[in-house]
Amino acid sequence: MSHIHLVCTECQAAHNADMLTLGCRECGSPLDVAYDSPESHAMTVSGLPMPAPIHADALGVTMREGNTPIVPLPAVSEAVGVGSVWGKLEMVSPTGSFKDRGVAMMLSVAMERGVSEIVEDSSGNAGASVAAYAARAGIRAHVFAPDTAPRAKMGQIRVYGASAHAVPGAREQSARAAEAYRRARGLVYASHNLSPYFIEGTKTFAYEIHTQMPCPADHTVIPVGNGSLLIGAWKGYCELVAGGAAQSVPRLHAIQSEAARPIVAEFEGVEWRADGSTTIAGGISVGAPPRKAQVARAVRQSGGRALAVSDERILWWQNLLAASEGIFAEPTSAAAFAGLELLAKRGHVRASDTVLVPVTGSGLKDAQF
Ligand SMILES: Cc1ncc(COP(=O)(O)O)c(C=O)c1O
Ligand SMILES: [Zn+2]
Repeated sequence: MSHIHLVCTECQAAHNADMLTLGCRECGSPLDVAYDSPESHAMTVSGLPMPAPIHADALGVTMREGNTPIVPLPAVSEAVGVGSVWGKLEMVSPTGSFKDRGVAMMLSVAMERGVSEIVEDSSGNAGASVAAYAARAGIRAHVFAPDTAPRAKMGQIRVYGASAHAVPGAREQSARAAEAYRRARGLVYASHNLSPYFIEGTKTFAYEIHTQMPCPADHTVIPVGNGSLLIGAWKGYCELVAGGAAQSVPRLHAIQSEAARPIVAEFEGVEWRADGSTTIAGGISVGAPPRKAQVARAVRQSGGRALAVSDERILWWQNLLAASEGIFAEPTSAAAFAGLELLAKRGHVRASDTVLVPVTGSGLKDAQF
């Protein structure tokens, strides 16, 4: 991987790029991919060159993920009093969530490096995606998820042939169990939360929006647990601006649940500790996201906000999206719309603004009935 190195998100220390280094040797913070010459290894995404960590000019394992449609959302526009609201339907991705963007890139890097067995932990969607792409790549996968993960997601992990480990306790327990399993067996920990390659895959989200939107979005409103989509969007937009393809980065807003809002607290500069309360938005139920500081920084630098929403509003929006737009989103995805409602109410999004909201996952995988 001579065209890239890894750089610490906090102290900027440089590291060689491999599949094993997931944290800074100096300060322990997560790492990002840095390109020695961005133009030398680019993939074409929506007709634009996007710097990528793979050596080939196309992904080694892919199901043509991404390329998701954007549609106008008139009922949402009316409900929040904002003239132009668009949804990007990530739920139509091969495994039903945006995670396929990051997993396709992460496992394409793993393939290039000859990795044959990986360990991952997930609230469900990333695990299902890793299981699917690992099956396609001929890589053996072990996925750790909370024992409270929806049955459909656990079933999906198993049907792709991965070994699914249901771990009692909070989401962090699954991460600990995965790390212990990896260490005991000397396997590669393909953690989508820590992997710098996963984020290189979620960048495609920004490239697509840039070419799909009839006029540039002023705001992108994203449900955030660990922040992989938000950081990928930020990186992607920054590359587009640096390369002269885009004029500016939209305001990126991070939406969390009231029960798990460490990034909102980081953004506000206050202390937050999990108090045992739970949320129906399982994908963003993350108490200690490793990239917390990086996410809050991207939100701040883009001019966005970080807000927390209630389960009551999440359910209300899940129903509105289904009954008025024909879109069955999972509760985690509906949280972004509850966030848009609050942003509009507080004047952070104005009636004349253009807003894009990803519908990050399918309701079919997290049905409450
Ligand atoms: C449907 C859905 N949306 C959003 C998220 C949040 O993604 P991230 O943890 O990368 O912020 C997740 C994470 O599992 C998810 O499953
Ligand atoms: Zn560091």
